[in-house]
Amino acid sequence: MIQYANQQGLQLDFPKSFTSSRISCHISESRVQAPSDPFSKKYRCIEVSAVEQGTVGLISLNRPDVLNALSEDLMHDLIDALQGLDASQEIGAIVLTGKGKAFAAGADIKELKDKDIVSIFMSPFPSKWNDIMKIKKPIIAAVNGYALGGGCEVALMCDIILAGEKAVFGQPELKLGTIPGMGGTQRLIREVGKSRAMEMILTGSYFLDAQEACQRGLASRVVAGSNADLINEAISVAGKIAKQSRPAVIIAKAAVNSAYETSLQEGLKQEKALFGATFALADRKEGMSAFIEKREPQFVHK
Ligand code: CAA
Repeated sequence: MIQYANQQGLQLDFPKSFTSSRISCHISESRVQAPSDPFSKKYRCIEVSAVEQGTVGLISLNRPDVLNALSEDLMHDLIDALQGLDASQEIGAIVLTGKGKAFAAGADIKELKDKDIVSIFMSPFPSKWNDIMKIKKPIIAAVNGYALGGGCEVALMCDIILAGEKAVFGQPELKLGTIPGMGGTQRLIREVGKSRAMEMILTGSYFLDAQEACQRGLASRVVAGSNADLINEAISVAGKIAKQSRPAVIIAKAAVNSAYETSLQEGLKQEKALFGATFALADRKEGMSAFIEKREPQFVHK
């Protein structure tokens, strides 16, 4: 067997010759200790449900009184639920949204106010938030209102952002005497360019509305209508993804994300290996056969 692992933690075991009809496309789980079923848990700060005939996991941040401020409890709840959905056989994609008028208005300032440098460096906050990047299944952020500070940074860690008409994206941390700490200084620049990212971060008050976020490529598109319309649209997109071959979706997400981590040449090498890997999937054979036979593919997710 030849082992291939990219920087997002996706591990594929290739047969020495790519002739096997099956590839053992297992995902390295060393970092996740057998996550339990997120639907049977009672979380403190989020709600989790299954939609689209149980193929899509819907997570709602649920601290509307404080605009879904990202407390440590919420962080642990969210990461636990995402890992559980990632491990679920039934779930093919995840939607993340916020209850009330915000997606999330940033890290919980009341919780952070009295911390000192030692407690920040010793605590899992904020670095544990990067665990979102280890989720293999696609995450769609349905941003219904404020996505500020850490809220904007969480959205940036998702794979697709759909913006509701009232979405507002910004990094106001400088106004608090601090800087973005959940990836904003690194990820925002890649989405909106250096000049605009600098203006957003350094002034703390240049916010993007839904239209501008789309024009700049931060969000995929604006969904008109109410919050319910936005969430329904996000679920519909997630449902379309969940109908695809699950291993092919995971491979595609890893391939696209490798563009963030590597040079073009290295990324093209990774794409070539991952493209080859799909030829060991039963689903790849089924997809191409179904096209030729003019029928819908019946993916078995293997
Ligand atoms: N942390 C804690 N509580 C927050 C909060 C946050 N980030 N954002 C809002 N709240 C609370 C408010 O204190 C208020 O609570 P009370 O009713 O108890 O006073 C409640 O949510 C409603 O907020 P507002 O009354 O302020 O609502 P508004 O509509 O007038 O204003 C807002 C909305 C412009 C988003 C404003 O709430 C705001 O500026 N929030 C802070 C945004 C921010 O600075 N985010 C960055 C946080 S730091 C960070 O995220 C660091 C990092 O990268 C790791």
